[in-house]
Amino acid sequence: AFDINKLLSQAGMTALDYGYGNTASCRSAITYIDGDAGILRYRGYPIEQLAEKSTFLETSYLLIYGELPTQSELDSFTNKIRRHTLLHEDLKRFFDGFPRDAHPMPVLSSAVSALSTFYQDSLDPFDQEAVELSTVRLLAKVPTIAAYAYKKSVGQPFLYPDNSLGLVENFLRMTFGFPAEPYEVDPVFVKALDTLLILHADHEQNCSTSTVRMVGSSQANLFASISAGVNALFGPLHGGANQAVLEMLQRIEREFEGDVDKFVERVKNKEDKSARLMGFGHRVYKNYDPRAKIIKQQADEILKGLGVNDPLLDIAMRLEERALADDYFIERKLYPNVDFYTGVIYRAMGFPTRMFTVLFALGRLPGWIAHRREMINDPTTRIGRPRQLYVGATKRDYVEMSAR
Ligand code: ACO
Repeated sequence: AFDINKLLSQAGMTALDYGYGNTASCRSAITYIDGDAGILRYRGYPIEQLAEKSTFLETSYLLIYGELPTQSELDSFTNKIRRHTLLHEDLKRFFDGFPRDAHPMPVLSSAVSALSTFYQDSLDPFDQEAVELSTVRLLAKVPTIAAYAYKKSVGQPFLYPDNSLGLVENFLRMTFGFPAEPYEVDPVFVKALDTLLILHADHEQNCSTSTVRMVGSSQANLFASISAGVNALFGPLHGGANQAVLEMLQRIEREFEGDVDKFVERVKNKEDKSARLMGFGHRVYKNYDPRAKIIKQQADEILKGLGVNDPLLDIAMRLEERALADDYFIERKLYPNVDFYTGVIYRAMGFPTRMFTVLFALGRLPGWIAHRREMINDPTTRIGRPRQLYVGATKRDYVEMSAR
């Protein structure tokens, strides 16, 4: 890559690149994607191997610190996170202020933003010790916040974390358990969710990660940057797509009586904007998303393991088959992305549709943290400040109110 910035500024020129499709905004050693070949690697390790052999916490360590941990490094990392899962009692009270039917994503971003007020030692972005502590606090507390956002939405009491449990078990217990009642965590469920979190853990300069970097480039602290990332993830063209996919499948079942042909024709005609094929297409992948491949394989197994028979999985499979054989999708190189099959799995696990994007945020958290930490230590980092092509009025004189 050459530094186009230098070249253009010497020539007094600006490049116009809608949606930054051809603009690299930074150097990064975290994640490698080859969109044409359908390759995804974290720190050089293929996603397929990590999904099969690693755990979410180990993968988080890998993304953040650059290497797979030794056993003692992993134990120490895990123990640190375990010690920080509790929310400050005053932060817990925040949840009372939100309406009962609030979407859990803005609840999550608000609570993450509020961490800056509770942990003011986080405010200096160059204080390495503080960054370390904020990293642990985020990884430990975001699952608790996410579970409380759910509990609030269903009007059930909050559970304190049980730190004898692993991160995923603890999250599931706080989400689906009740105080003073034993909660048996199904190991199939735990493994499945852990794998899904690994698959979501990083994806280089996607919309939310670029947002984290943009906010971080002003030297705002880690909590402020991550909270901005949560908000970027909320949109249906990004993390919100997993919720949108499930709503689309339900719509095909109800409104189109399961007729995927009819729905695909509707999408191709571009009659109505809401009839995009959600969970299809990707800015970078012009081939099958490797994460979707793994998730599709697992969807069937996981549903069987959980004893669930969901007609929406059948609709999803027929829809995929129909789209992949259609010239519209072939010409545009549109394939299923990571979100296409996740919703069906989350539903089988008992999560309401509105929690799907929160689960994505839980998974993406270590990636966001890794990028924020990488950029602050990179001497080439500059404040993010794109230019624009001005298309407004030319100079004109102020018009007095009486003359307008
Ligand atoms: N359904 C139907 N047509 C589509 C779709 C789709 N899902 N995605 C793209 N297209 C079409 C566009 O209409 C356009 O067609 P045209 O050339 O006739 O105008 C062409 O394919 C190119 O699409 P763009 O919108 O330019 O592609 P872009 O790279 O900007 O967008 C995006 C990528 C946002 C992911 C898009 O494919 C999309 O909206 N997909 C559905 C939402 C989704 O699943 N998002 C999740 C993305 S992955 C993630 O964040 C985890």
